[in-house]
Amino acid sequence: MARVLVLGSGGREHAFVYKIAQSPLCEALFIAPGNAGTARHAQNVALDPMDFEAVAAFCGAQSIDLLVVGPEAPLVAGIRDALSARPALKGLKVVGPSKAGARLEGSKDYAKQFMQRYGIPTARYRTFEAGQLDEALEYLRQHPLPVVLKADGLAAGKGVLICEQREQAMEEMKAMLSGKFGEASRKVVVEEFLQGIEVSVFVLTDGKDYMVLPEAKDYKRIGEGDTGLNTGGMGAVSPVPFVNKDFIRKVEERIIRPTLQGLQQEQAPYSGFIFLGLMNVGGDPYVIEYNVRMGDPETQAVFARIESDLLVLLEATAAGTLGQQSLQISPYTAVTVVLASQGYPEAYEKGKVITGIDEVEEAIVFHAGTRQGSQGEILTHGGRVLAVTALAESLPEARELAMKAAGSIHFDNKYYRRDIGLDLLRWQQEAEASKQN
Ligand code: AMP
Ligand code: GLY
Repeated sequence: MARVLVLGSGGREHAFVYKIAQSPLCEALFIAPGNAGTARHAQNVALDPMDFEAVAAFCGAQSIDLLVVGPEAPLVAGIRDALSARPALKGLKVVGPSKAGARLEGSKDYAKQFMQRYGIPTARYRTFEAGQLDEALEYLRQHPLPVVLKADGLAAGKGVLICEQREQAMEEMKAMLSGKFGEASRKVVVEEFLQGIEVSVFVLTDGKDYMVLPEAKDYKRIGEGDTGLNTGGMGAVSPVPFVNKDFIRKVEERIIRPTLQGLQQEQAPYSGFIFLGLMNVGGDPYVIEYNVRMGDPETQAVFARIESDLLVLLEATAAGTLGQQSLQISPYTAVTVVLASQGYPEAYEKGKVITGIDEVEEAIVFHAGTRQGSQGEILTHGGRVLAVTALAESLPEARELAMKAAGSIHFDNKYYRRDIGLDLLRWQQEAEASKQN
């Protein structure tokens, strides 16, 4: 039996507690800080995941056995090292990398050097620091277009710019090196643009053994047809039809195994999730980015397909016994649609009453930015408000159920993309048609 604390407050964390609560091995489940939806499966605790003292005190007082860290910020700041060092928390196991392991996400420059050291396929790059502006501009003058500029540190998903024009790239470089993203853009990675189709592959590892979880496609832009500003993610689909066994084999051989070997060589303890943002370039995988956590909203689609007891897998991950476990995956398709507040990812209003959640029967409703009002009503409290996930035998069926659920929930200024999965459906239809010819 396990006493579990999950850190985070988004749709991803709601999916974690939803799955963990189903385990017969779950004795007590807490989430900090959680949202109105997580309160149905776990006890919400008013703690800031960045306040390690408070998290440690809570883990001690509640005899927590397993800490599951949802977002990257506490991992990059070293929560695992900070808690493991305490004699009072000797029994506590953490799902999440050490501070050294979390550099894969915390510093893009480190991640690029790491990939270069261990021969992991990625776009060619160079890194420039604040004192090297002239050199950086000279480099950009020669660089083929489009060119990709990345702030080195965490920049809330806003630190990547794809520049079609040289002038724009040079202006952005100046802005970034002079502090556009604060400390995060003190260094800037300039990267070659990779042409291909993106897919995310998720790995669960205890540092030695690993499991490849279901892959997913994320819909990052706010507008239909992949237009407009980047967001945290407006939807997700799993599986991704063009990801076949051969592609996953290449990902394992060229990326996952060398990554785990590299982490061991760098003495960077790692037990947790690795989220590989990949570009499929003509059938070959290249790493666009590492994340040291699960994706949001990808988790809501990926976990819907995991039939194994998630708590058992997480405990094995933290204990270093993942090699003894097996993973059961549903062959069905999961489609997740995010319901956002109109205006997101820029300014939006909060505090709108949400209705219709309890009437949804053919999809799971995960909460992201919600809170409970004084009369027990559910109110919007963020840009991404809810994520609905439907699981069905085929992509068209799963899409239909997810869209139906998205349409039947109401709040003022609701916005969602109706085209989640449509591109994959077209891809599938074309593949079918070419098979028949
Ligand atoms: P990231 O914040 O690293 O996930 O980057 C945001 C998005 O920028 C990615 O999802 C890709 O669509 C795009 N991107 C990043 N790096 C490259 C690259 N080297 N080539 C093409 N697209 C890229
Ligand atoms: N949906 C993208 C992410 O979680 O980083």
